[in-house]
Amino acid sequence: MKRQLTYIHQLKDHISMDVNLAGWVYNVRSSGSLVFIECRDGSGICQCVVNKEEVSENSWETAVSLKQESSIRLNGFVVSDERSIGGVELQVKRLEVIQLVADYPITPKEHGIEFLMNRRHLWLRSQRQWAAMRVRNGIIFAIHNFFQSRGFIQTDTPIFTPNAAEGSTTLFETEFFNEKAYLAQTGQLYGEALAMAHGLIYTFGPTFRAEKSKTRRHLSEFWMIEPEMAFYDLEMNMDLAEDMLKSIVSEVLEKYHHELALLGRDTSSLKRLVEKDFVRIKYDDAVDILNSDKTAKVLDELIQQRKAEKEELIREQDAIQKEHGSAKKWRKKQIEKRIIDNHTRVDQIEEDLRNIPRWKKSTQEFTWGSDFGGSDETVLTMQFDVPVMVTHWPAEIKAFYMKRDKTDTYALGVDILAPEGYGEIVGGSQREDNLDVILARIEEEGLDPEVFDWYIDLRRFGSVPHAGFGLGLERTVAWICGLGHVRETIAFPRMMGRITP
Ligand code: 4AD
Ligand code: MG
Repeated sequence: MKRQLTYIHQLKDHISMDVNLAGWVYNVRSSGSLVFIECRDGSGICQCVVNKEEVSENSWETAVSLKQESSIRLNGFVVSDERSIGGVELQVKRLEVIQLVADYPITPKEHGIEFLMNRRHLWLRSQRQWAAMRVRNGIIFAIHNFFQSRGFIQTDTPIFTPNAAEGSTTLFETEFFNEKAYLAQTGQLYGEALAMAHGLIYTFGPTFRAEKSKTRRHLSEFWMIEPEMAFYDLEMNMDLAEDMLKSIVSEVLEKYHHELALLGRDTSSLKRLVEKDFVRIKYDDAVDILNSDKTAKVLDELIQQRKAEKEELIREQDAIQKEHGSAKKWRKKQIEKRIIDNHTRVDQIEEDLRNIPRWKKSTQEFTWGSDFGGSDETVLTMQFDVPVMVTHWPAEIKAFYMKRDKTDTYALGVDILAPEGYGEIVGGSQREDNLDVILARIEEEGLDPEVFDWYIDLRRFGSVPHAGFGLGLERTVAWICGLGHVRETIAFPRMMGRITP
């Protein structure tokens, strides 16, 4: 068989031509003298039809023996077929098996999350996981596009570091030639030095947080993008972050509608935010919103709404269950999938119904000076249809390097909260640029001035106002893909209780 390969995503340009494909069996079924193979090759999925009358005995024998994830080579004729996935179909002329597979562990039936996470190396081949990794790639590319087109240069900062930058409680300790060292929580401090050399920089690297947190937003190892800009204040920083997010979202919407559709992402909220201004509020106003009667009312209404949705789903469930008995085979399959989907949605609603009263309590009792919890962020963003930028935080709860306003009470920091319950995706600030003030801050925090001496140099030699922020890649992927948990946004997640595969 000729070895020049065509990839499935290119097949539209090869209608009425012979091509060679190589891939894996995603699904296979037979009907009389026909075998239908859904072949995936990494670039897409294509239906390949083997007709007993048209192929050699060898190819036919191979076709009927195929099982999920067997690896194969195919030669065939491409025809356009609107009903098929991707709008094309391969009429197979020759089929070779590379490896026949029995018992692939991940079948189309439903599996529990632990089962799938333990087989992450295989699970990555499934459609949804495939789509999520592609969107992640698109987001990464869009981020580079955005910064590079604005004259930022990418710089890389160390992973072995001698100090904490984002609080000492979330450090992974390691050893560096008999010296204590930590895995970087952020590249920011080094980014500040690089901004003084290049003006506009961004970092794009892995960062590590040791918090013992098992929420759907926490990873122990995640990727962060940290721009740092000389001569920027908080406002300019916020304008840049807003432009960046709009640019990422519009590029992904333009290039990845197929993947977003596979993920079942309703893109209306993404489309909306590209057009509209983000909401900008101060921390104090955010606290007022959380404590307000209006918020309590919104949550009560949400409970009623969820209850109604649940009843509707249960009614639908009864109706399709009845149809199932007398349905044709193909329809039965559809109904079974629908029933599983319905179950998942009912489970989600029940979880919400358990959570919302807790959210209500937490928001009504929220006191000035605390940090927002995940549910506070959810409740806050629920009341707007675009991302919310919260600024002017109580200085005590923010990092030592943030500049304060004139009252010395508020830090000139900004958190950007994504809509639809995704919460904080960006944290940033204007930096303290005054030598005496930064020295005092370091002392107040009980940090070792020696370790920070190089950082303090930046305030000794040509100090200028400057600002920057950090965008969490995985939280951004979760939000844009509409995924419920960050564990599906990175190929091999590292989080509490999970270091394999
Ligand atoms: O808000 P954070 O901690 O800010 C910093 O590290 C600053 N030094 C950034 C800067 O100004 N250059 O983290 C920034 C973002 C968060 O908004 C969140 O999106 C993500 O990083 N992030 C996490 N993502 C996944 N798992 C975790 N444990 C995360 N911690 C932070
Ligand atoms: Mg933060």
